[in-house]
Amino acid sequence: MRRPVIAGNWKMYKTLAETRAFFQAFLPLVAGTKHCDIVVAPPYTALTAAAESTRGSGVAIAAQDLHWAVEGAFTGEISARMIAEAGCRGVVVGHSERRQYFGETDESVLRKTRAALEAGLQPIVCVGETLVEREGNLAESVLKRQFEDGLAALTPPEFSRILLAYEPVWAIGTGRTATPEQAAEAHGHLRAMAAARFGPEQASSLRILYGGSVKPENIRGLMAQAEIDGALVGGASLDPKSFAAIVNY
Ligand code: 13P
Repeated sequence: MRRPVIAGNWKMYKTLAETRAFFQAFLPLVAGTKHCDIVVAPPYTALTAAAESTRGSGVAIAAQDLHWAVEGAFTGEISARMIAEAGCRGVVVGHSERRQYFGETDESVLRKTRAALEAGLQPIVCVGETLVEREGNLAESVLKRQFEDGLAALTPPEFSRILLAYEPVWAIGTGRTATPEQAAEAHGHLRAMAAARFGPEQASSLRILYGGSVKPENIRGLMAQAEIDGALVGGASLDPKSFAAIVNY
């Protein structure tokens, strides 16, 4: 039985004050929640405040990206060790917005995933096809390339520590969610790839989250699919009531 994970990706939203106010409102709404892991990924500047606000609550904090080097002359970048020290337990890697706007590649995803694991962080590795790729019937082959080039080189113990997030680019911030069946089908493909590379046991314990316009109104339908182990929520994670409603689906 895979334990569900509901994660919020705040993207470039929320100041320190807004972060503290969010958790003040959010934590009481999930104080009794036992059925799933809860993760929130604020921007870098709010990580420490978020970690302090959630201490002892069971809510885990994650960063949204990292650099693969331990340290060095990389102006503007943040390492896994810095993220861990800020109080994070995880980090999002390879989000489509990083791939689309900041030159993230499958190769850098692999390097970042390894760096995160080495620092004791849980990577939430994102994959997903664009609209053009889906309409060209390329969704499965794109996922395969992202999986093969971005993850297949991990060792089995490394792979056992990651979370995978399927985020079809056409469903992100568009209000156009994948149907539960479309998401479950993609998750099934990803799980089959994991089985082929790492064996059926590892594949069956891999948790795959769906991301793309997840809202309080559609979370139940998504989570009713056996293949869907959780959600990576953007816009709807910014409001404490709406994110709590998703967590408590
Ligand atoms: P939305 O929920 O705003 O579509 O964003 C999804 C996402 O990109 C989460 O990482």
